[in-house]
Amino acid sequence: MLDGYPNEDAGRGELIRVENLTVGYGETNILEDVSFSVYEGEIFAILGPSGCGKSTLFHAMIGLLPIRKGRIIIGGEELGPEERVDSLHRIRHQIGVLFQSGALLDWLSVGENIAFPLRESTDLPEEIIQHIVQLKLELVRLEGCSEIKPAELSGGMTRRAGLAAGMARDPRILFCDEPTFGLDPNTAMEIDELLIEMRDFLKVTIVVVTHVVPTLENIATRCIMLDREAKGVIASGRLDSLKNDTSDQRVQAFFQRRIPERQSQV
Ligand SMILES: Nc1ncnc2c1ncn2[C@@H]1O[C@H](COP(=O)(O)OP(=O)(O)OP(=O)(O)O)[C@@H](O)[C@H]1O
Ligand SMILES: [Mg+2]
Repeated sequence: MLDGYPNEDAGRGELIRVENLTVGYGETNILEDVSFSVYEGEIFAILGPSGCGKSTLFHAMIGLLPIRKGRIIIGGEELGPEERVDSLHRIRHQIGVLFQSGALLDWLSVGENIAFPLRESTDLPEEIIQHIVQLKLELVRLEGCSEIKPAELSGGMTRRAGLAAGMARDPRILFCDEPTFGLDPNTAMEIDELLIEMRDFLKVTIVVVTHVVPTLENIATRCIMLDREAKGVIASGRLDSLKNDTSDQRVQAFFQRRIPERQSQV
């Protein structure tokens, strides 16, 4: 099913447009001719089974993977096959990223991980940086954890700290790759709630890659589903219509699959 975007989205600002995107590695294209839009203030999910190209698309959208064909427009800035460093720079200022499994710098404390993007991209005095670090720790309810090293954190705390670092520069868009994978259901739900709070209170638009169905059901409104053989989007639209209206067996199989209660940490 490839339904169009529902009318209720028509009046909202389009914040990201992916147009006829082709990306891959070496001789192989992983995704070909992929197009979709993300609207301001929504939690948009990129779905699909392991290996279908979710992280590949994610990395292209944050400017870490070269675009072979097509273009991505984020907040009016365009990325295309020809590298444009100035555009990339301006895009990076609008986005925050939570990489798959949290990805903190393990030789730095939690506080230093949050301070790092601020030190890298601003000339803020140390006092202000420390103030922002405390605010971000409060945002993810990790007050008092500034001095702790990432290795000492639980899985859920690692994701929270990763979210705090992703939110350090008050981004307009937060990209999260598998924010709840490997967490027990209660901890995963706490992360889901945090993402919803960020959308509702901070008005951050969130693009989330996930194949955890409960997380999807908790947070996402619209989504696309990728498929490895199709090398692209096999379904798109509102989550409930994808779940209930589809006759595509690949889409049905995705939603019927049950995620084990506990998974090893990734
Ligand atoms: N750096 C790379 N070089 C070559 N091939 C890669 C690279 N990264 C990923 N791939 C291949 O691209 C395909 C898509 O991988 P990708 O990581 O985007 O999938 P995914 O949907 O994120 O999977 P998962 O759910 O397991 O994270 C896979 O076949 C993978 O082996
Ligand atoms: Mg991935």
